[in-house]
Amino acid sequence: MIILKTMEEIEQMHEAGKILAACHREIAKRIKPGVTTWEIDQFVEEFLRDHHVTPEQKGYMGYPYATCASTNDVICHGFPNKEPLREGDIVTIDMVVNRNGWLADSAWSYPVGKISAEASRLLQVTKQALMLGIEQAKPGNRIGDISHAIQVFAESHGYSVVRDFTGHGIGQSMHEDPHVPHYGKPNKGARLKEGMVLTIEPMLNIGDYHVSHDDDGWTARTADGSLSAQYEHTLAITKDGPLILTAQ
Ligand code: MF3
Ligand code: CO
Repeated sequence: MIILKTMEEIEQMHEAGKILAACHREIAKRIKPGVTTWEIDQFVEEFLRDHHVTPEQKGYMGYPYATCASTNDVICHGFPNKEPLREGDIVTIDMVVNRNGWLADSAWSYPVGKISAEASRLLQVTKQALMLGIEQAKPGNRIGDISHAIQVFAESHGYSVVRDFTGHGIGQSMHEDPHVPHYGKPNKGARLKEGMVLTIEPMLNIGDYHVSHDDDGWTARTADGSLSAQYEHTLAITKDGPLILTAQ
């Protein structure tokens, strides 16, 4: 069941999203060679506390940290750790902010120092795939229009789209209906309506889309060891089109 939100509720989620976006802007300044994702996670905890919001991921189904920190071949749900980031790495920081019970979710991939042209192109294409998906998020379109726009663009650049993880509805819970796959056929799936709030969060791999899972029960990597990137926004469907609630 898809839970539609009122304009007032969307405004609540937008306030959470603005704090989340501000946190990402601070993270961008801090990511550099030698810094650890554990330090970034500590910073996020502090930043959210100072802004009177809470990290929804911490404790969610037993997840132990405020952020997911996914480096290089890690697709998503990586644990922050004490290994220093190295020049040339890419790292995705994903988090969900809870402000007075209303949530916002956004992930961003960051370059560590100077990265290869290949990695840089992956980041650019993944971000652009997200934005093309968002363009489709308007009343009258269907979920499949978002999925298809992302898949066609990603594959036209030679990348694969991860199938095992999708975007989702979000509101007072992190994961609501509908699922938002990042691959699929146009004009299929649920019809988009004013008041829906969704995440779109494509994960693109340089190699193929198959996933391998670490023993920690969370970390998901590319099966072939290739690089993976992800960008995610939370957005509302309004009569005028998509309203990005986590815009940087
Ligand atoms: N933020 C993630 C998403 O985009 C969910 C992370 S799983 C968690 O759906 F358990 F770490 F929260
Ligand atoms: Co997320």
